Amino acid sequence: MALDYGFADSKRTITGDGLLGSVFRIAGPVDLEALYRFEMLCFKDHPFRRDHIAWILGNDRALTLVEDADEALTAVMMLLFEGRTCRVLSVGVVPDARRRGIATRLMQIAEAFSRKRGCATIRLEVSTENLAAIELYRRLGYRTDGVLYGYYSWGEDAYSMEKPVPHALSEAAPEPSAISPYESININR
Ligand SMILES: CC(C)(COP(=O)(O)OP(=O)(O)OC[C@H]1O[C@@H](n2cnc3c(N)ncnc32)[C@H](O)[C@@H]1OP(=O)(O)O)[C@@H](O)C(=O)NCCC(=O)NCCS
Repeated sequence: MALDYGFADSKRTITGDGLLGSVFRIAGPVDLEALYRFEMLCFKDHPFRRDHIAWILGNDRALTLVEDADEALTAVMMLLFEGRTCRVLSVGVVPDARRRGIATRLMQIAEAFSRKRGCATIRLEVSTENLAAIELYRRLGYRTDGVLYGYYSWGEDAYSMEKPVPHALSEAAPEPSAISPYESININR
Protein backbone atom coordinates (compact mmCIF):
# COMPACT_ATOMS: atom_id res chain seq x y z
CA MET A 1 0.00 0.00 0.00
CA ALA A 2 1.41 3.42 -0.91
CA LEU A 3 -0.20 6.14 1.18
CA ASP A 4 0.96 9.72 1.17
CA TYR A 5 -0.50 11.50 4.14
CA GLY A 6 0.38 15.09 3.34
CA PHE A 7 -2.84 16.50 1.98
CA ALA A 8 -1.88 20.06 1.27
CA ASP A 9 -1.26 19.06 -2.33
CA SER A 10 -4.60 18.31 -3.93
CA LYS A 11 -3.01 16.62 -6.92
CA ARG A 12 -1.74 13.67 -4.89
CA THR A 13 -3.24 10.28 -5.33
CA ILE A 14 -3.66 7.57 -2.76
CA THR A 15 -3.20 4.13 -4.13
CA GLY A 16 -5.21 1.26 -2.75
CA ASP A 17 -3.51 -1.94 -1.69
CA GLY A 18 -4.39 -3.74 -4.90
CA LEU A 19 -7.35 -5.48 -3.33
CA LEU A 20 -9.80 -3.33 -5.23
CA GLY A 21 -7.60 -1.80 -7.84
CA SER A 22 -8.98 1.53 -6.64
CA VAL A 23 -7.10 4.79 -6.77
CA PHE A 24 -8.39 7.61 -4.62
CA ARG A 25 -7.51 11.20 -5.24
CA ILE A 26 -7.63 14.23 -3.01
CA ALA A 27 -10.30 16.61 -4.28
CA GLY A 28 -9.87 20.35 -4.58
CA PRO A 29 -12.06 23.40 -5.37
CA VAL A 30 -12.13 22.43 -9.06
CA ASP A 31 -14.20 19.36 -8.08
CA LEU A 32 -17.08 21.36 -6.60
CA GLU A 33 -19.61 20.72 -9.36
CA ALA A 34 -18.68 17.03 -9.71
CA LEU A 35 -19.06 16.61 -5.97
CA TYR A 36 -22.44 18.30 -6.01
CA ARG A 37 -23.61 16.01 -8.83
CA PHE A 38 -22.30 13.05 -6.83
CA GLU A 39 -24.22 14.23 -3.75
CA MET A 40 -27.47 14.37 -5.69
CA LEU A 41 -26.94 10.90 -7.15
CA CYS A 42 -25.77 9.24 -3.97
CA PHE A 43 -27.78 11.03 -1.28
CA LYS A 44 -30.88 11.69 -3.42
CA ASP A 45 -33.17 13.93 -1.37
CA HIS A 46 -30.54 14.97 1.13
CA PRO A 47 -27.41 16.18 -0.64
CA PHE A 48 -24.93 18.49 1.06
CA ARG A 49 -25.58 22.04 -0.01
CA ARG A 50 -23.14 23.43 -2.55
CA ASP A 51 -21.84 25.97 -0.02
CA HIS A 52 -21.20 23.19 2.49
CA ILE A 53 -19.13 21.34 -0.09
CA ALA A 54 -17.26 24.52 -0.95
CA TRP A 55 -16.56 25.12 2.76
CA ILE A 56 -15.18 21.61 3.14
CA LEU A 57 -13.03 21.90 0.01
CA GLY A 58 -11.61 25.21 1.19
CA ASN A 59 -10.85 24.12 4.74
CA ASP A 60 -7.25 23.29 5.66
CA ARG A 61 -8.37 20.74 8.20
CA ALA A 62 -10.75 18.95 5.91
CA LEU A 63 -9.86 16.24 3.46
CA THR A 64 -12.02 14.98 0.62
CA LEU A 65 -11.05 11.76 -1.13
CA VAL A 66 -12.68 10.76 -4.38
CA GLU A 67 -12.59 7.89 -6.81
CA ASP A 68 -12.98 8.83 -10.48
CA ALA A 69 -14.55 6.84 -13.26
CA ASP A 70 -14.77 8.39 -16.71
CA GLU A 71 -16.46 11.75 -16.28
CA ALA A 72 -18.02 11.23 -12.86
CA LEU A 73 -17.08 10.39 -9.30
CA THR A 74 -17.89 6.91 -8.02
CA ALA A 75 -17.01 7.32 -4.36
CA VAL A 76 -16.38 10.19 -1.96
CA MET A 77 -15.31 10.51 1.67
CA MET A 78 -15.06 13.80 3.55
CA LEU A 79 -13.10 14.11 6.77
CA LEU A 80 -12.64 16.98 9.21
CA PHE A 81 -9.79 16.94 11.72
CA GLU A 82 -10.75 18.63 14.99
CA GLY A 83 -7.88 18.40 17.48
CA ARG A 84 -7.49 14.76 18.39
CA THR A 85 -10.74 13.80 16.70
CA CYS A 86 -11.31 12.91 13.07
CA ARG A 87 -14.92 13.40 12.00
CA VAL A 88 -16.25 11.51 9.01
CA LEU A 89 -18.56 14.11 7.51
CA SER A 90 -19.65 11.90 4.66
CA VAL A 91 -18.94 8.66 2.87
CA GLY A 92 -20.80 7.56 -0.21
CA VAL A 93 -20.55 5.22 -3.18
CA VAL A 94 -22.68 5.49 -6.33
CA PRO A 95 -25.43 2.83 -6.46
CA ASP A 96 -23.79 0.84 -9.29
CA ALA A 97 -20.53 0.39 -7.38
CA ARG A 98 -21.89 -0.61 -3.97
CA ARG A 99 -21.08 -3.84 -2.10
CA ARG A 100 -17.60 -4.03 -3.56
CA GLY A 101 -15.79 -2.91 -0.41
CA ILE A 102 -15.13 0.65 -1.58
CA ALA A 103 -16.60 2.35 1.50
CA THR A 104 -14.72 -0.09 3.71
CA ARG A 105 -11.49 0.85 1.97
CA LEU A 106 -12.19 4.56 2.34
CA MET A 107 -12.90 4.12 6.05
CA GLN A 108 -9.61 2.25 6.43
CA ILE A 109 -7.84 5.17 4.78
CA ALA A 110 -9.61 7.51 7.25
CA GLU A 111 -8.09 5.45 10.05
CA ALA A 112 -4.64 5.64 8.48
CA PHE A 113 -4.85 9.44 8.17
CA SER A 114 -6.15 9.72 11.73
CA ARG A 115 -3.31 7.65 13.07
CA LYS A 116 -0.76 9.70 11.18
CA ARG A 117 -2.23 12.96 12.50
CA GLY A 118 -2.28 11.76 16.10
CA CYS A 119 -6.06 11.55 16.44
CA ALA A 120 -7.34 9.48 19.34
CA THR A 121 -10.84 8.95 17.97
CA ILE A 122 -12.84 8.84 14.77
CA ARG A 123 -16.41 10.07 15.14
CA LEU A 124 -19.40 10.14 12.83
CA GLU A 125 -23.12 10.62 12.82
CA VAL A 126 -25.47 8.37 10.90
CA SER A 127 -29.23 8.42 10.46
CA THR A 128 -30.97 5.85 12.65
CA GLU A 129 -32.79 4.80 9.43
CA ASN A 130 -29.62 4.16 7.43
CA LEU A 131 -29.21 0.46 8.06
CA ALA A 132 -26.58 -0.07 5.33
CA ALA A 133 -24.27 2.57 6.75
CA ILE A 134 -24.86 1.49 10.36
CA GLU A 135 -23.88 -2.05 9.40
CA LEU A 136 -20.82 -0.79 7.52
CA TYR A 137 -19.61 1.16 10.57
CA ARG A 138 -20.52 -1.55 13.07
CA ARG A 139 -18.49 -4.11 11.10
CA LEU A 140 -15.53 -1.75 11.14
CA GLY A 141 -15.65 -1.55 14.94
CA TYR A 142 -17.59 1.68 15.50
CA ARG A 143 -19.77 1.78 18.61
CA THR A 144 -22.85 3.92 19.22
CA ASP A 145 -22.32 6.39 22.06
CA GLY A 146 -25.48 8.48 21.80
CA VAL A 147 -28.65 9.36 19.92
CA LEU A 148 -29.00 12.87 18.48
CA TYR A 149 -32.72 13.56 18.23
CA GLY A 150 -33.79 15.58 15.20
CA TYR A 151 -30.17 15.88 14.08
CA TYR A 152 -30.91 16.16 10.37
CA SER A 153 -32.57 19.14 8.73
CA TRP A 154 -35.56 16.94 7.73
CA GLY A 155 -36.01 15.77 11.32
CA GLU A 156 -34.49 12.30 11.33
CA ASP A 157 -32.51 11.19 14.38
CA ALA A 158 -28.87 10.18 14.22
CA TYR A 159 -26.65 7.81 16.11
CA SER A 160 -23.37 9.23 17.22
CA MET A 161 -20.72 6.57 16.66
CA GLU A 162 -17.05 6.43 17.50
CA LYS A 163 -13.98 4.26 17.24
CA PRO A 164 -10.67 4.68 19.04
CA VAL A 165 -7.79 5.02 16.61
CA PRO A 166 -5.34 2.19 17.17
CA HIS A 167 -1.81 3.58 17.57
CA ALA A 168 1.33 1.52 17.32
CA LEU A 169 3.14 1.68 20.67
CA SER A 170 6.20 3.15 18.98
CA GLU A 171 4.24 5.99 17.37
CA ALA A 172 4.53 9.36 19.06
CA ALA A 173 1.31 11.26 18.43
CA PRO A 174 2.07 14.76 17.11
CA GLU A 175 0.42 17.68 18.93
CA PRO A 176 -2.45 18.97 16.81
CA SER A 177 -2.57 22.72 16.40
CA ALA A 178 -5.43 24.83 17.71
CA ILE A 179 -8.85 24.75 16.06
CA SER A 180 -10.56 28.02 15.29
CA PRO A 181 -14.24 28.38 16.29
CA TYR A 182 -15.03 28.68 12.59
CA GLU A 183 -13.95 25.08 12.14
CA SER A 184 -16.32 23.75 14.76
CA ILE A 185 -19.50 24.50 12.83
CA ASN A 186 -22.05 21.75 12.79
CA ILE A 187 -22.15 20.20 9.35
CA ASN A 188 -24.98 17.87 8.61
CA ARG A 189 -27.38 17.29 5.78
C1 LIG B 1 -23.41 2.99 2.98
C2 LIG B 1 -22.52 2.93 1.77
C3 LIG B 1 -21.50 4.08 1.85
C4 LIG B 1 -21.78 1.57 1.73
O1 LIG B 1 -20.85 1.60 0.66
P1 LIG B 1 -20.29 0.23 0.01
O2 LIG B 1 -19.09 0.55 -0.78
O3 LIG B 1 -21.40 -0.46 -0.67
O4 LIG B 1 -19.90 -0.58 1.35
P2 LIG B 1 -18.99 -1.89 1.40
O5 LIG B 1 -19.04 -2.63 0.11
O6 LIG B 1 -17.66 -1.50 1.91
O7 LIG B 1 -19.78 -2.74 2.50
C5 LIG B 1 -19.16 -3.22 3.69
C6 LIG B 1 -20.19 -3.90 4.56
O8 LIG B 1 -21.18 -2.94 5.00
C7 LIG B 1 -22.46 -3.59 5.10
N1 LIG B 1 -23.38 -3.06 4.10
C8 LIG B 1 -23.10 -2.23 3.08
N2 LIG B 1 -24.24 -1.96 2.37
C9 LIG B 1 -25.21 -2.66 2.97
C10 LIG B 1 -26.61 -2.80 2.71
N3 LIG B 1 -27.21 -2.17 1.67
N4 LIG B 1 -27.33 -3.58 3.55
C11 LIG B 1 -26.75 -4.20 4.58
N5 LIG B 1 -25.44 -4.12 4.88
C12 LIG B 1 -24.68 -3.35 4.08
C13 LIG B 1 -22.20 -5.05 4.81
O9 LIG B 1 -21.86 -5.68 6.04
C14 LIG B 1 -21.00 -4.96 3.87
O10 LIG B 1 -20.26 -6.16 3.81
P3 LIG B 1 -20.71 -7.32 2.75
O11 LIG B 1 -20.90 -6.65 1.42
O12 LIG B 1 -19.56 -8.26 2.79
O13 LIG B 1 -21.99 -7.90 3.28
C15 LIG B 1 -23.35 3.05 0.44
O14 LIG B 1 -24.44 2.16 0.52
C16 LIG B 1 -23.87 4.44 0.16
O15 LIG B 1 -23.19 5.24 -0.48
N6 LIG B 1 -25.09 4.76 0.63
C17 LIG B 1 -25.69 6.10 0.38
C18 LIG B 1 -24.92 7.17 1.11
C19 LIG B 1 -24.88 6.92 2.61
O16 LIG B 1 -25.88 6.57 3.21
N7 LIG B 1 -23.70 7.16 3.21
C20 LIG B 1 -23.49 6.93 4.65
C21 LIG B 1 -23.93 8.06 5.49
S1 LIG B 1 -22.94 9.52 5.27
